[in-house]
Amino acid sequence: MERIIAACKSALANDGYVIALTGAGVSAESGIPTFRGKEGYWTVGSREYHPQELATHAAFQQMPWDVWAWYLYRRTVCRRAEPNAAHEALVRWDRAVGDRFAVITQNVDGLHRRAGSPDARTFPIHGDIELMRCANDCVPDRWPLPEGVPLLEKGQAVDEATRALLVCPRCGGMARPHVLWFDESYDEARFFLDTSRRLASGAALLVVAGTSAQTNLPWQVVTLAARAGATIVDINVEENPFGEIAAQSGGAVRGSAAQVFPALVSALI
Ligand code: APR
Repeated sequence: MERIIAACKSALANDGYVIALTGAGVSAESGIPTFRGKEGYWTVGSREYHPQELATHAAFQQMPWDVWAWYLYRRTVCRRAEPNAAHEALVRWDRAVGDRFAVITQNVDGLHRRAGSPDARTFPIHGDIELMRCANDCVPDRWPLPEGVPLLEKGQAVDEATRALLVCPRCGGMARPHVLWFDESYDEARFFLDTSRRLASGAALLVVAGTSAQTNLPWQVVTLAARAGATIVDINVEENPFGEIAAQSGGAVRGSAAQVFPALVSALI
């Protein structure tokens, strides 16, 4: 850990952005399942049903209320979770570093925001489970889910009253969850594509945490940051492809995010 702290300190002496790129592993200790872990959403699903198929625009077109039921159940899991020491450490780091700090997160759970990470420097690149938008994309706007939308339990269906609430406030058409589905692409207006690339291309330090490196934009962020000469650190309980890249740079820590981030941030601020 000493070597990693030293590498981070010299990186922080350079100009450039200080970025935390987070994945489901950062929220695991808040009780939110990861996706590909032993009890992960995609893993468990394969025994009962294939939620990965649910996380597609195609599925939403065929069975919108099954898809909504699944996201409203996941929303319940997120609501019942609390930010952990990793989320809180990133808020402290944000306050210490200021404008050149950023959190780029794959998590739709909103825990960074609930911990106090400022919206201006927090970029949820896969959406937000508390937001909806027009299913016909009449406008790119997104809205908080209406007050009356209940917290659904697993397998609970969306009733008529709730269906009447899940409509686009602009055109009155159907609304959809504001999440990025597997058969959809990143853009700037909804998923901070250009912002993430710009930050990565100007990075001095990139700390990647709790991700298995299975999605596209995080790879672009790591690749662009490496190309920009940034110091890259990986925090994960397991080996992963970003760990190999970090090993050539700032180093990889095999430990839990809620234990490593507070120690790292305390050493740096
Ligand atoms: N601390 C640090 N890392 C952890 C912890 C922990 N407490 N617990 C698990 N991990 C690591 C796992 O070892 C794994 O590498 O977190 C990673 C979680 O990987 P995934 O479940 O694949 O989640 P993630 O990488 O965030 O998935 C990316 O894929 O399915 C889509 O849209 C979904 O945003 C998601 C994206």
